Amino acid sequence: MVALVRTVAYLGLEAREVEVQCHIGPGLPRFNLVGLPDKAVSESRERVYAALAAIGLALPPKRITVNLSPADLPKDGSHFDLPIALALLATMGVTDAEQLTDWIAVGELALDGRVVASPGVLIAALHASSVGSGLICPLEQGPEARWASGVPVLAPRDLTSLLGHLKGSLVLPEPPRGMIEDAQAGNDLKQVKGQETAKRALEIAAAGGHNLMMVGPPGSGKSLLASCLPGILPPLSPAEALEVSMVQSVAGMLEAGRISRARPFRAPHHSASMAALTGGGLKVRPGEVSLAHLGVLFLDKLPEFQRPVLDSLRQPLETGHVDVARANAHVTFPARVQLVAAMNPCRCGYAGDPARNCNKYPRCIGDYQTRLSGPLLDRSTSTSMSAR
Ligand SMILES: Nc1ncnc2c1ncn2[C@@H]1O[C@H](COP(=O)(O)OP(=O)(O)OP(=O)(O)O)[C@@H](O)[C@H]1O
Ligand SMILES: [Mg+2]
Repeated sequence: MVALVRTVAYLGLEAREVEVQCHIGPGLPRFNLVGLPDKAVSESRERVYAALAAIGLALPPKRITVNLSPADLPKDGSHFDLPIALALLATMGVTDAEQLTDWIAVGELALDGRVVASPGVLIAALHASSVGSGLICPLEQGPEARWASGVPVLAPRDLTSLLGHLKGSLVLPEPPRGMIEDAQAGNDLKQVKGQETAKRALEIAAAGGHNLMMVGPPGSGKSLLASCLPGILPPLSPAEALEVSMVQSVAGMLEAGRISRARPFRAPHHSASMAALTGGGLKVRPGEVSLAHLGVLFLDKLPEFQRPVLDSLRQPLETGHVDVARANAHVTFPARVQLVAAMNPCRCGYAGDPARNCNKYPRCIGDYQTRLSGPLLDRSTSTSMSAR
């Protein structure tokens, strides 16, 4: 007998439906997992084995094959544990396979049988909503899943309670919808003393959605001004807040399903790698430029970033999205950001200050600023700041 359970694979902010097929047949005892699983998915065998043992079930001493179909789509993430376990349980006749066809299941299994959080539940819920299915997800992510309209959500704490619900011996309560957080004022522009030109530049950048570069000596308030920007930007509209939350969901950063109307503010350190900034890596994850989608990406000490890393931002700044191409996957993340950059005018930071003149002035200004490429500078308006 073959049992089928539906789940999803995440490709950027898109969910592709994946069918987990399980077959138990004669042969030497073996548990095969096929269908392009990555390391996390392959390890799911061990978690499923232990979780089933924790609820008092042993796998039959037969040849077990689990296929993740379509087999040519790369699968990554630990959320395949729960659908794999359900497919096994259905094949073993512990639960009704027919009943599971109305549900899409995502969730990681702990060794003691708990269903624990995994990234991307909001995306899975929106997919379930579009195909008219219900969603089975971890208890703590029920509030996140409830944001998708019209999706029945089953959020079990562990495998035992899920099996109990499917058998009708207990009823899992519908989880509440996550909360909406209003935009909280961060730093207030009022606390910036003087720097009228820079404040005006910040207001114009906020009003027009322009990129901005602040150049000034250390301690002149560049970082302070940048942190005031989200406070003077309008709050996210409900549709925008959902879009931002989808990116956070894939990155596993959506806490308790709470959706915030505050514009994101991301300030990565200048040692950030290209994968950290624009997305990608072994498991394709959104980078800082996507986590700042519809908000502010603040790059402090701009010339200290590696040059290829900075230049990798040129495409997203122009198109509003990042395309991450891998040999076996092509993923797009949104990246509509307002770039705010800050830098000192030269390496010592005090160029032009007669009190602290170093013997490299004015050559040092040119040397320092040529670390930035012309096309990147073209994409921002700049304001110079004087010492306080
Ligand atoms: N114009 C200002 N009004 C009020 N506080 C200020 C002002 N400028 C600087 N400060 C305060 O001085 C400290 C240093 O400012 P900040 O870190 O913003 O400087 P910076 O220009 O980013 O320096 P660096 O080039 O070293 O990064 C902060 O505590 C900030 O609150
Ligand atoms: Mg600073």
